Amino acid sequence: MTAPEATPPAGLQPAPPRVLCVAGSPRRHGNSERLLDAFIRGVNNAGGLAEKLVVVDYGLTPCRGCNRCSRDGVCIVQDRMHEVYSLIDSADAIVVSSPVYFATVPAALKILYDRCQPYWARTHVLKQPRGPKRPGGMLVVGGGGDPFGNGCAIATTKSVLAVLGVQYELQLEVEGPDAPRDIEDRAEALLEAESLGVELVSLAQHFRSSGV
Ligand SMILES: Cc1cc2nc3c(=O)[nH]c(=O)nc-3n(C[C@H](O)[C@H](O)[C@H](O)COP(=O)(O)O)c2cc1C
Repeated sequence: MTAPEATPPAGLQPAPPRVLCVAGSPRRHGNSERLLDAFIRGVNNAGGLAEKLVVVDYGLTPCRGCNRCSRDGVCIVQDRMHEVYSLIDSADAIVVSSPVYFATVPAALKILYDRCQPYWARTHVLKQPRGPKRPGGMLVVGGGGDPFGNGCAIATTKSVLAVLGVQYELQLEVEGPDAPRDIEDRAEALLEAESLGVELVSLAQHFRSSGV
C-alpha cells in the first residue's frame, strides 16, 4: 500500500511565477497586443500570474542622459516610471510584445527601455550585484516589406533585457499583420504565443528552483 502524497500546508505553496507582459504598441488592442493576450492566456493556464503593462498608458518621459543614476542608481525623473520599476523588480519572467516601427520598436517603448539606464548604472558603474537571472523573450509583429527587417527591434529588446538580468529564452516573429485585427487570421501564431506563455511559466519555475 502506498501512502497518499502529502499536500504541503497552504503557507508553504510556492507563489505563482509573476510574468511581466509588456505591450509596446501605441495602438491599443492591435496585433502585438492581441498576440500578447494569447501569450497571457498561456501564462494563466500554466498557473502563472500575468501582469500586463501597457506602455502607452504610462506617459513616460524620455531619459535625459543626465547620468545622475550613475551616482546612486536612482532616476531623478519624476513620473510613473517608478511603477514600472517595481513591476520589473518583482517579475520572475519578462516578455515584451512589440510592433516593428521603422525597423525598431515604437518610441513609447524605446523611452521605457532608455529609462532602464539605472539598472545598467547599478551593475556597470556602481558594481552592485545583479539579482538572480530570470527568463524572458519577445513577441514581434511587423507589417512586412521593409528591407531592414525586424533585427533592430529584436537586438534593442535583447540589449535592455540583458541589463535587467533577463536570459533571452523565447521569441516569436509574425510578419504580415498590418490593420489592427489582421492577427486574428493567424490562428497558428496565436496558438504559438499561447504555448510560449506556458513555456515561460515553466522556465520561470525552473530558474527559481535551480537558482540559475
Ligand atoms: C510608424 C510605423 C512604422 C512602421 N514601420 C514598419 C517597419 O519598419 N517594418 C514593418 O514590418 N512594419 C512596419 N510598420 C507596420 C506595423 O509593424 C504593423 O502595422 C503592425 O501590425 C502594428 O502592430 P500593432 O497593431 O500592435 O500596433 C510600421 C507601422 C507604423 C505605424
